[in-house]
Amino acid sequence: MCGIVGYIGHKNATSILLDGLKRLEYRGYDSAGVALLENGDFRVFKEKGKIVEVEKLLSKKKIHSSIGIAHTRWATHGEPSKINAHPHLSFDKRIALVHNGIIENYRILKKNLQSKGFQSISDTDSEVLANLISYYYQNDLEEAVRRALKDINGTYGILVMAKDNPNMIIGARHGSPIVVGIGEKEMFVASDVSAIVTYTKSVIYLDDNEIVAVTQNEYRTTSLSAYTVEKDIQEIDWDIDDITKGGFDHYMLKEIHEQVDTVQNAFRGRLNWDEATAKLGGIPEEVFLTTERVIITACGTSYYSALVGEYLLEELAEIPTEVEYASEFRYRSPIIKKGTVVFVISQSGETADTLAALREAKRKGSKVYGITNVVGSTIARETDGGVYTHAGPEIGVASTKAFTSQITILLLIALSFARRRRMSHQRGLEILRNLVNLPHSIKQILENSNKLKQLAKKHAKSSNMLFLGRHINYPVALEGALKLKEISYIHAEGYPAAEMKHGPIALIDENMPVIVIATDSNILEKVISNIQEVKARKGRVIAIATEGNHSIQELCEDVFYVPKVLDIVSPILNVIPLQLFAYYVAVERGCEVDQPRNLAKSVTVE
Ligand code: G6P
Repeated sequence: MCGIVGYIGHKNATSILLDGLKRLEYRGYDSAGVALLENGDFRVFKEKGKIVEVEKLLSKKKIHSSIGIAHTRWATHGEPSKINAHPHLSFDKRIALVHNGIIENYRILKKNLQSKGFQSISDTDSEVLANLISYYYQNDLEEAVRRALKDINGTYGILVMAKDNPNMIIGARHGSPIVVGIGEKEMFVASDVSAIVTYTKSVIYLDDNEIVAVTQNEYRTTSLSAYTVEKDIQEIDWDIDDITKGGFDHYMLKEIHEQVDTVQNAFRGRLNWDEATAKLGGIPEEVFLTTERVIITACGTSYYSALVGEYLLEELAEIPTEVEYASEFRYRSPIIKKGTVVFVISQSGETADTLAALREAKRKGSKVYGITNVVGSTIARETDGGVYTHAGPEIGVASTKAFTSQITILLLIALSFARRRRMSHQRGLEILRNLVNLPHSIKQILENSNKLKQLAKKHAKSSNMLFLGRHINYPVALEGALKLKEISYIHAEGYPAAEMKHGPIALIDENMPVIVIATDSNILEKVISNIQEVKARKGRVIAIATEGNHSIQELCEDVFYVPKVLDIVSPILNVIPLQLFAYYVAVERGCEVDQPRNLAKSVTVE
């Protein structure tokens, strides 16, 4: 949610900041801007829309500056416009600031500052913070930031420059990530490493309530109360190639294809064939032995993978499991007793609601374990342990590879519980065998992409679609509908196939495509009956079915076949045709697949 990047060094800051912004654009893209310090003056370039608009502005100027900050915005306060775009200057033009987060008490601060002569020209909460810093600024920028931050309520990841100090950028974090990249006679500061990985792989992550003062050659980290904080330098273990499109038209398509490898990465080194179980070093043995109840909490696509996890844990390990939206969990009074363990799932590891739920669970005395993709992310650091998905950076705003990796990890967790409790060695081996075959099966699905492209062409003009699934594939139906609405703006609903008759069936007519997950399982016959119900109302059924099921063709307008796999593993395969279908529909409709309107990759505000 909003991307920020700063540079101080010996090179041309403009190109480094623009490059960083482009890599961060997936975090928000309604407006963008850059502030550079040149000969003792701020040069600010902002524009509504994508980063390319700012790039156009900058291409007409020759600026000599090696210090600057930049921002790509996902609006919270104030509509997307040039004036509301960041960076914001203080009214007296001494301070420039970029901000990711929300300042809750900005109205009162704004009023106070106005009475002291600091007017605001935008509708944003962030401009108020620039004014507040300027109000406190005498000659110590770090101290001014510290004092201002003590006055505000809310969340922030900020970068600040002062007009009369061309040798320093101050960064601070509370709730929104800040990472410092350490280079040779140059430093980078950003909201996430993708903005800076081209330039350096040595980074430090700020924790909440920490401030960093960065100069060309060094950095100093302190707490909000000015105590020195020593930080470990970490090395990023992925490359720039991981965040380019690699010959694909869109990141989303690349990431869908990457699932052949990412699913494998999720289980690589984690299978114990001797014991027919999984090895998960990040979760203590005691958890597997003593847990009586599991709560999983997450948002968006991660929430749907959690729903699959609920089926897995209950069916394989007989552990009562509840899944809850993190945004609800945090404000409810969740009952967490001895024996309850909480899992949080987050691709980014930064989602504000998931982080708040994690903290709430810890406050209530629970141990919390994470399933995250981003190493070193806040959720990864604040949990008591967990498992990384190792899917590599996911840039497409619509999550794809993260989903299948999360389910793979959930399967390993469920297997670990089950094998210590009730599952036979033989059944454990059967699951492991199914897992290791997955990459091959995923490849097979991807090779048949053309069929999905044709189906997408056929249905791209629809204004509604229904996705049906049952049992462990019900969450897959939800995810299929989410993918479609996120990137193609077609209204879509995911429903448990049998529940359809209690409402959505009223919507079915000859214009309604209904995608039904009808792969082999012990309830396939029930799903077939649901298909009959749709057919009887002239709905146009597209089935996702298991190879070899020829009879289903008689019932459906179209069938997409997936390889045979154990029912409990099937969500990992079944979601892939739905991802591809959504992708091709969106392309067919001319939508901006990687940057769908109003969405952001990582939602670090409430
Ligand atoms: C945003 C993204 C979704 C994602 C959700 C949760 O809404 O657009 O794709 O599923 O956040 O993100 P997380 O990083 O916590 O998995």
